[in-house]
Order: sequence, then C-alpha cells, then structure tokens
Amino acid sequence: MDDNALVNIPEVLLSSGQRMPLLGMGTATSPLVGSDEIKTAILQAIELGYRHFDTATLYLTEEPLGEAIAEAVSRGLIKCREELFITSKLWCSDAHSDLVLPALQKSLQALQLEYIDLYLIHWPVSSRPGMYEFPIKKEDFLPMDFKGVWAAMEECHKLGLTKSIGVSNFSCKKLSDILEIAEVRPAINQVEINPLWQQKKQMEFCKANGIALIAYAPLGGTIRGSNRVMENEVLKEIANAKGKSVAQV
Ligand SMILES: NC(=O)c1ccc[n+]([C@@H]2O[C@H](COP(=O)([O-])OP(=O)(O)OC[C@H]3O[C@@H](n4cnc5c(N)ncnc54)[C@H](OP(=O)(O)O)[C@@H]3O)[C@@H](O)[C@H]2O)c1
Repeated sequence: MDDNALVNIPEVLLSSGQRMPLLGMGTATSPLVGSDEIKTAILQAIELGYRHFDTATLYLTEEPLGEAIAEAVSRGLIKCREELFITSKLWCSDAHSDLVLPALQKSLQALQLEYIDLYLIHWPVSSRPGMYEFPIKKEDFLPMDFKGVWAAMEECHKLGLTKSIGVSNFSCKKLSDILEIAEVRPAINQVEINPLWQQKKQMEFCKANGIALIAYAPLGGTIRGSNRVMENEVLKEIANAKGKSVAQV
C-alpha cells in the first residue's frame, strides 16, 4: 500500500442516521481544470483511501466525478458505489421551490448515480433562474423563499434521491429559520473553518442542535489566494515538533 494511503478514516453519525467519513476531497478548482485531470485526481484519491467527495453544480465536476466512480467500480478499486459518500449542492439560480428537484435530477444524471448521500443548498440566496454564474451579478440576486426551497429539499430526501439534506454558508440566524420550518432537519452546515477562522459560535450552535459542520477551505483555501494558514508560524512549530506537514496538522 502507498505510504500516503489513508486508513480507517473515522466517521460521524449524522442526524439522518447516515455515517459520513470525516475526511473528504473537494473538487472545486480555480481556474477551472479539464475533466480528465479531475477524473485522474479522484481515481488517485480513491486509491489512497478517500471515500468522501464534495462537488456542486457550480464546480462543473459532477461529470468527471461520475466517470471516476464508474471507473473505480469497474477497475475494482471499490466494490460498489455504496462505499462512497457523495455530496453535491444546489446552485442559487436553482434555489426556487419548483427548480430544486429538476436540479438534483440533473446532478444525478451527470454523476451517473441513482442517489447522492448529501444535497446542500450552496448559499442562502437565490438568483435569476438559468444563470450559473459566480460571482452573481447584483441585479440577478433574488430573495430566497426559504420555506418553499427547504420543502423541495425535503421532497428530494423523501423520494430517496439524497440520503441527507443540509445547507452551506448559513449563519446561525438563517439556520434557526430553517429549523423552525423543517420537517426534516438539516443534517449539515458546510462553512469555511480553519485555524484562522474558527467559527466558534457556529460550532456551539450546531452542536446544540444536532447539526454536523463540514469545514471547507480547511487549509485556508488557495481559491481565495491566501496562504496565511499554510504559512502560520505556530502551525509550522507544531508540524516540526510532530514530524508532520502543516496540512496534516
Ligand atoms: N460550500 C462552499 O461554498 C465551498 C466554498 C469553497 C470550497 N468548498 C469545498 O471545499 C473544498 C476545499 O476548498 P479549498 O480548495 O478552497 O480549500 P483548501 O482545502 O483550504 O485549499 C486547497 C489548497 O491547499 C493546498 N493543499 C492541499 N493539500 C495540501 C497539502 N497536503 N500540502 C500543502 N498544500 C496543500 C493546495 O494548493 P495548491 O494547489 O496551490 O498546491 C490546494 O489547492 C473545495 O474543493 C470545495 O469542495 C466549498
């Protein structure tokens, strides 16, 4: 086995009853890279032991992730798709009650899957339907119908198209609003968390409400062009003392 292989990645039990591997691989790239490169990286990650993959309609990586999953099964890297935990996200232009189910169906088609493990509302805003743009133009923002959109997410869950549902980039206040109307509670809030952005209030709120937090940009996210985490002197000291890299710490 490769020296870098990940073994026995711990799992967390979600409020949906599902288990999620604590370590996952993100598939967002900036600038965008080609599908073949994404697919190759995912196959290598599967070989190393990654079982949790994070995509989104916006990232344009659902298709290569789907191809990698199919190839991983056909090459025997994994026995079946059930060994993986796959997350995708509803883009803002589909965050309208009547567009949620069709958006998830499109994602499933791109991923060549019958279900995903987790579907998230990507951001707590809606935008003009049909526009898959980032950043979103000021004139394209629309107020979100939280009740209607969450009900549509619950419908996707009831139909078995996603095992868990959740949100991303939601403040404690917006999470409270969802909890008030939810029949199926959000299992996850995915937000930026790293040593320099610790989100203590979110952590306490989510713990108290049985919501698991997923940390994105755990290394400070080069997508935003910052290396303040990777260059942090305290983290470097800990890494040296432990004989690990800063990323491992
Ligand atoms: N929900 C949301 O709104 C949202 C937003 C942003 C991200 N995400 C998710 O979170 C994932 C990760 O986000 P991110 O890429 O911004 O953040 P990140 O994981 O903090 O940063 C990734 C960068 O760290 C560097 N890196 C990775 N592993 C390393 C290692 N072992 N040693 C040294 N450097 C290493 C790489 O930089 P180099 O390429 O320069 O080597 C890589 O591009 C995304 O792919 C996406 O799935 C979600």
